Amino acid sequence: MDPPHPFIHEIKLTQWQKIRGVVLGVVLLPLRILLCALCFLLMWPVARLRFAGVSEEERSRPVSGWRLWLLHPVMRTLSRVAFVFLSFHWLKVKGRRADNKEAPVLVVAPHSGFMDMMVLPATELATVVSRSENSGLPVIGALLEFNQAVLVSRKDPQSRKNAVSQLNERLTSNGYWPQMLMFPEGTTTNGKALIKFKPGAFLAGVPVQPVLLRYPNKLDTVRWTFKGTTWLECLWHTATQPNTNCTVEFLPVYKPSEEEKSNPALYADNVQKLMAKALDVPATDYVLEGPVPVSKLGGLSLPFDSPARKTLSLLRKNNFTWSDVETALSRMMYRCRAQGQGSKVDADELVSLLELKDRQTALNICELYSKDETVDLRQVYVSMAAVSGSVPFKTLLHTAFTLYDDGKGSLSAEELSGLMGALLGIPQHNTSELYSATCRHDRVTEDDLLRVLTTHPTYQRLTNEYLQPEEAGSHLPMTNGHSVNNNKSVVNGNGSLHSKKSD
Ligand SMILES: *[C@@H]1O[C@H](CO)[C@@H](O)[C@H](O)[C@H]1NC(C)=O
Ligand SMILES: *[C@@H]1O[C@H](CO)[C@@H](O)[C@H](O)[C@H]1NC(C)=O
Ligand SMILES: *[C@@H]1O[C@H](CO)[C@@H](O)[C@H](O)[C@H]1NC(C)=O
Ligand SMILES: *[C@@H]1O[C@H](CO)[C@@H](O)[C@H](O)[C@H]1NC(C)=O
Ligand SMILES: *[C@@H]1O[C@H](CO)[C@@H](O)[C@H](O)[C@H]1NC(C)=O
Repeated sequence: MDPPHPFIHEIKLTQWQKIRGVVLGVVLLPLRILLCALCFLLMWPVARLRFAGVSEEERSRPVSGWRLWLLHPVMRTLSRVAFVFLSFHWLKVKGRRADNKEAPVLVVAPHSGFMDMMVLPATELATVVSRSENSGLPVIGALLEFNQAVLVSRKDPQSRKNAVSQLNERLTSNGYWPQMLMFPEGTTTNGKALIKFKPGAFLAGVPVQPVLLRYPNKLDTVRWTFKGTTWLECLWHTATQPNTNCTVEFLPVYKPSEEEKSNPALYADNVQKLMAKALDVPATDYVLEGPVPVSKLGGLSLPFDSPARKTLSLLRKNNFTWSDVETALSRMMYRCRAQGQGSKVDADELVSLLELKDRQTALNICELYSKDETVDLRQVYVSMAAVSGSVPFKTLLHTAFTLYDDGKGSLSAEELSGLMGALLGIPQHNTSELYSATCRHDRVTEDDLLRVLTTHPTYQRLTNEYLQPEEAGSHLPMTNGHSVNNNKSVVNGNGSLHSKKSD
């Protein structure tokens, strides 16, 4: 079985649940939201009080004195009560939380949505890591300040560096700083699989305590993922439940081996596997790369929603028949060959190349492939030909090769990146492993690339699973150790379109 798409969650309600939602929504929701908001309003001054009149220098140390013993329990109680008003009446805790000397960091998974903050009252309001943009939000900003959270801006490399050194200082402080809490997945999922753990929590090489967060409810209302249910729906549906169950399970502290200490990525992977096993879900290589969910395969990024498949379905919506698609593909191919390296086209040219009825569809296609209103036609052509199945893979690879080799008959490392980006439909930033697997002398030849893409234990999965025509290939089997062995795409019929033209 392929692991499920972890980034989509939608709530499906039965008729009865809808009726109940509306009734409770009218009666209960306003009251609950009001009380919950009241809690947050009370938290605000408490949070402000923590650092009122404290010097900048003192702020960079852990809080102590009355600001700790008085304000901390008040805040913990208020935050727990706020969640009670959101229908989390009971919180079930399994296992024992280790103290911060035993395990300076708690790693919590799966990350489902903002309701996960529920875990904070159960962990003595452990210190979190947050995006620095959040510190500007009303109330939330004050709460982050109260928490002495580590702030990091995703865009700014300097801020990342600062955050890493701050993390390192806190995690190796031997109990001087309070315990930290991190969601190593770094983004929310639907919980059907664990996505790849980011190394942040594991960089310092200190023991971690894995914490499982479960919501054992008939209706899964708490998840807020990349696609599907919005945060407002999530809040609405959760707050209109009579009760929402949540279980926090503390697993035994995990002490890293010497090897794991010196290799944070390995450490992260091993903890991920352990937690996946305890949750009984697959441990996967999925990550969110910028705004695009991808899975990783030997350094390559395979997009979940392949732009090529999406383009094909857009064309189908425009009443394209199979032969229309083939005609469009061959027109694009000729255009690419004529244009060579500089094959940028804009939406208007796309309209005429594909014989589209409206410009909007062309704009939609551009949007799938790039940030502006132009696309590299090679990328559109090669990626679509790969998943449309209109051409045998060998023939397609030959065509793609000639589009990227600059007439030399072999590819440099950079040209290989370009070709792989065209094949997959999104830019590839890390083809060094593929390059060294393929390259015998300095440059990559077509035969070597074909051999690696069809027989290499890792990369043949790209050809045999990911680039398969039809919808079947849209879910990527990428669990560790999964392997499939069919090379039907390589010997896939006669390839009417290209076998005639490309030789
Ligand atoms: C919460 O869990 C209990 C069992 O522990 C179950 O009977 C109940 O239906 C659950 N609540 C919801 C809303 O699913
Ligand atoms: C590139 O991919 C290889 C193989 O998966 C990986 O070990 C390496 O860390 C990656 N490099 C970067 C910069 O992402
Ligand atoms: C596709 O065909 C259907 C039925 O023939 C028609 O109603 C629809 O408008 C067409 N769509 C486009 C985008 O041309
Ligand atoms: C690919 O197909 C050929 C014959 O079609 C077969 O001999 C070979 O074992 C297959 N390779 C794999 C990896 O399945
Ligand atoms: C390939 O084409 C030949 C003649 O055009 C035809 O007889 C044969 O069945 C085709 N093979 C496949 C696999 O489509």
